[in-house]
Amino acid sequence: MSVLVLGGAGYIGSHAVYQLIEQGYDVAVVDNLQTGHRQAVHTAARFYEGDVRDKEFLTEVFTHEDVEGVFHFCAYSLVGESVEKPLAYFNNNVQGLQSVLEVMYTFNVKHIVFSSTAAVYGEPDTIPINETDTTNPTSPYGESKLVMEKMMCWCHEAYGVNFAALRYFNVAGAHPDGVIGEDHRPETHLIPIVLEVALEQREQLTVFGDDYNTADGSCIRDYLHVVDLIDAHILAFDYLKNGGASGAFNLGSSNGYSVFEILEAARAVTGHSINASVGKRRAGDPSVLIAASDKAKNQLGWQPRFDDINEIIRHAWEWHQHHPHGYDKEEV
Ligand code: UFG
Repeated sequence: MSVLVLGGAGYIGSHAVYQLIEQGYDVAVVDNLQTGHRQAVHTAARFYEGDVRDKEFLTEVFTHEDVEGVFHFCAYSLVGESVEKPLAYFNNNVQGLQSVLEVMYTFNVKHIVFSSTAAVYGEPDTIPINETDTTNPTSPYGESKLVMEKMMCWCHEAYGVNFAALRYFNVAGAHPDGVIGEDHRPETHLIPIVLEVALEQREQLTVFGDDYNTADGSCIRDYLHVVDLIDAHILAFDYLKNGGASGAFNLGSSNGYSVFEILEAARAVTGHSINASVGKRRAGDPSVLIAASDKAKNQLGWQPRFDDINEIIRHAWEWHQHHPHGYDKEEV
């Protein structure tokens, strides 16, 4: 039987494919290649190019594959863009999951591991954030993921579909072998941007605000290694197969780093000075987001392997140094 990875050509999905294959799973991938990269897909995985909203296409895939469970990574995921284009976000994200759940129902597939986000919480009431805390998204992106979680909840009640909604904090790093990494266009995330400055592909980092109520005035985030993130997905899949209760799980390292601290760490790791200046706040940025990940540790048996921020940056740096133009003109 196979694990079907939807969005397996993207940054996080491609790491899931690699790690599943490393652990001996038979893997099939679906991706429409709108933001994903064909070269990022492990050669041992079967690849189907198409959009999950296309039910006919997806039905075809499920007909060819004996799917044991689905890992669902397909989504638009930029907070700021979602505020400008809410309908595009609801269409791609919510309608995409609708189609996936319908086809899973038709083929009686019972397990889905789902890529959710800390953005479902909005501005947190308390730090660290627990799964039971209020969910009040401040962006259409976060709202779309919360709707998707609720859709899976109702399908669990009605059809016995088991789900793990994994609420990611800030995912960073790259596969330690250096074969795959982060290649977003345009890039909006802090760590790859800082590394692009180190590579002289950008002039400087703009720090989005130094007047937050934090020790150095910049935002604090909880960064976790993409490999640890995927470990949790595979554990969640086993957990569901063994009868574990469906629900949401935070995934973070439980350590908070400010933007200035990340900048300093990247200077140390790369040996480059990395120019930076302070700009205005970015709309929708909460000041502090740190996860309580005890539920994932206790119930899934998850133990992050790379909880040192320097190591996360070092793995990202190795990828960026060896693939300065991402997947362009390169095969992995
Ligand atoms: N930042 C800068 N300058 C930049 C880019 C980012 O100062 O050029 C700051 C941001 O203001 C933020 C921190 O760096 O404080 C991290 O920003 P990222 O864009 O890397 O990540 P976000 O925290 O905005 O987003 C992440 C995920 C989203 C998810 C969100 C939950 O990428 O998918 O966390 O809040 F929705």
